[in-house]
Amino acid sequence: MKKELVQINIIEYDSIDELNEDDASLLKEARKVTQYAYAPYSNFKVGAFAKLVNGKTVSGTNQENASFPAGICAERTLLSAAASLFPGIGIETIAISYNNLNGESNKPVSPCGICRQSLFEFQQRTKNKIRILLSGMEGKVQLIENAQDLLPLVFCADDMK
Ligand code: THU
Repeated sequence: MKKELVQINIIEYDSIDELNEDDASLLKEARKVTQYAYAPYSNFKVGAFAKLVNGKTVSGTNQENASFPAGICAERTLLSAAASLFPGIGIETIAISYNNLNGESNKPVSPCGICRQSLFEFQQRTKNKIRILLSGMEGKVQLIENAQDLLPLVFCADDMK
């Protein structure tokens, strides 16, 4: 028997002001696009904004549905858009923000499990590490430099070989 400790790297900034210009502009856009979320059921508007390795940018927001499971998260909306508009191109950095109309939006919130799985596969298939910036509409910002850090013990294509 052995016990293993799995650790992940998170870099935390006190606010957007500590970010470099590129990252700050991505986070600003992520905050801005939360307004395009369609979230009448949760009132939790999520915005994602990414810069691809070819320099192009793509956004995504959560789009809910009266049939709840038909809704889609902001991150997966963005990944679908990126793969459709710029096939095969990796994502350099994705900034994710949210506006909680029922409460506060001042601390970083992490992507849900399904989105972590999707981010990992996108990173793997494009062979390009995705940096992930997390923050609310204000306050602390977290940087995760590799999408795999969000999902240790990930299930992936290699497991089916
Ligand atoms: N949501 C996202 O868009 N991304 C996440 O990673 C977490 C959850 C959305 C789904 C739903 O529309 C709302 O936030 C509340 O769960």
